Amino acid sequence: MTRKKIVAGNWKMNLQLNDAIQLIDDIVSNSKDLSGVELMVFPPALFLLEIAKIKNELTVGVQNFYPKESGAFTGEISITQIKNCGASHVLIGHSERREIFHESEELIKQKVDAAILHEIGVVFCCGEPLHIRENESQSSYVKQQLIDSLFHLSDAEIQTCVIAYEPIWAIGTGRTATVDQAEEMHSAIRSWITEFYGIEIANSISILYGGSCNASNAKELFTCQNVDGGLIGGASLQAESFITIARSF
Ligand code: 13P
Repeated sequence: MTRKKIVAGNWKMNLQLNDAIQLIDDIVSNSKDLSGVELMVFPPALFLLEIAKIKNELTVGVQNFYPKESGAFTGEISITQIKNCGASHVLIGHSERREIFHESEELIKQKVDAAILHEIGVVFCCGEPLHIRENESQSSYVKQQLIDSLFHLSDAEIQTCVIAYEPIWAIGTGRTATVDQAEEMHSAIRSWITEFYGIEIANSISILYGGSCNASNAKELFTCQNVDGGLIGGASLQAESFITIARSF
């Protein structure tokens, strides 16, 4: 079973509009000959309309939304609004949303359900903090995140999702998981999908690695049998490094 290879850029709260347009232009023009890899970008939502106009073959998503269709939720953007403005995917469960904005497992589950209901692709992020890795309980921690907010989906629904494993201690720190650490967790995630949905579905779901993945280490990480690509932060802000990562399979 061949799974989709995906390289996704999470731009987080970076760039001004002109930089974002330039970045998309550069990614589009330098990726024309790239085949067999889906490129996704998650710009700040405010830039969505402009990015959607020039995205060409790129998949465009948003980093956050509120899981209601409309209403009195000052400052939030809805799932229908992001769809209306050109997003086809959303990041859900990113550790920065969980930690800085105190998103609960319940809210994350509601976001998953809202995205599924509106046929928006989910990139579901999971991953353990340093103290959990240090006491070697990362497996049960990550499995519980998946059970709490993702594994309630039906067979058909889960197959529309991508999972991103992002150990928090590796995000923005320059400290990447070793190939062994990445493969160990990715194969564990696939075994849990097998436990809940069977081997065929497990083999069809792309599992991305995130956490200081860059142009120098992507090749090694992508050799892992169960690593199907990357969710890239810092190194996605420059077209050259992003495209180099996309060419690392
Ligand atoms: P860095 O690649 O900057 O470590 O960020 C990873 C990340 O959080 C992507 O969502």
